Amino acid sequence: MPAPELRICVAETDLEAALRLDVRHGLTSHPKRLPMRLHYDGRGSAMFGELTRQPEYYQTRSERAILRDHAAAIAGALGDGPVSVVELGAGRAEKIRPVLDALAGAGRLDAFWPFDVAAGQLREVLLELADAYPGARLGGVVGDFTRDLDQLPDRGGARLVAFLGGTFGNFTGPERSRFLRDLREAVRPGDRFLLGADLVKDPEVILAAYNDAAGVTAEFNRNVLYVLNHRLDADFRPDDFEHVVLWDGDTATIDMRLRAMRAMAVDVAALALDVGFRAGEEIRTGVSVKFHRGELENQLQASGFEPEACWTDERGYMGVFLARAV
Ligand SMILES: C[S@@+](CC[C@H](N)C(=O)[O-])C[C@H]1O[C@@H](n2cnc3c(N)ncnc32)[C@H](O)[C@@H]1O
Repeated sequence: MPAPELRICVAETDLEAALRLDVRHGLTSHPKRLPMRLHYDGRGSAMFGELTRQPEYYQTRSERAILRDHAAAIAGALGDGPVSVVELGAGRAEKIRPVLDALAGAGRLDAFWPFDVAAGQLREVLLELADAYPGARLGGVVGDFTRDLDQLPDRGGARLVAFLGGTFGNFTGPERSRFLRDLREAVRPGDRFLLGADLVKDPEVILAAYNDAAGVTAEFNRNVLYVLNHRLDADFRPDDFEHVVLWDGDTATIDMRLRAMRAMAVDVAALALDVGFRAGEEIRTGVSVKFHRGELENQLQASGFEPEACWTDERGYMGVFLARAV
């Protein structure tokens, strides 16, 4: 097999320009906000790995268990021929491995492409994968799944697009609709979509996952300010901001914020921007929506994906949905 290659859909310079625009817009908006993808620089990606290992963070363990227990069923639902797999927001591409193993074990893994905006991590992951799947075509796509879905690799045969880790829940309602519409336009009828989603459950369980006792999620949240200091020469003092997590039961949404503990002025030198904070003022740093199974299946259906199966863990905390593009 040829060595893994990286397809760069979004150049470093474009990412940098988008970052500057998003940050300028976000920090001059009312309320202030910062985009979720900013969390995942090298340090942020490593912290995300650590937070998934916290006892309160059920998401990763639950989704991993579902994919481990049902990998054979997922592979079986994709027919009996070769399959190519694309994973959006793959991160370290660990959870998808049981599905890749089931396909590779049956000699059916034609290709695997992790697709992520974090290029450095993608390079490392491809090296690990090349050892594990010597018979498959491997490549990485450095892209933004909110705008580069037209760049999904295609080998012409059966294709599975996976989107795991509850990342779908980080979109707002309009963003979810747009993502599903763009994805449906990017795939062919018969392609499958494998979606991992956090399900509605006891709010205490959900809130604890974002307020772990070791404070890892709080540090992950504050890391976004280190990213701004590092990349845009800002002078945030992250310890002056408190990690805040709110639960809105009406919309089943976790809302993560950073609250200024005193009034201050921050200089974002690379943007020539002075940002004033009142004591108690908040920056919105991300949402995480939880889903009712039926509602999500209806949304998939309305977007041109016919739901075929939904697997959950034994507590019903997470759901992994399989749907076919029609
Ligand atoms: C919550 S992590 C999930 C990682 C992995 N899928 C898992 O389940 O453990 C989100 C991943 O999506 C990537 N990501 C975030 N926003 C993105 C975007 N707009 N386009 C592409 N990748 C993005 C991040 O770099 C990170 O690797």
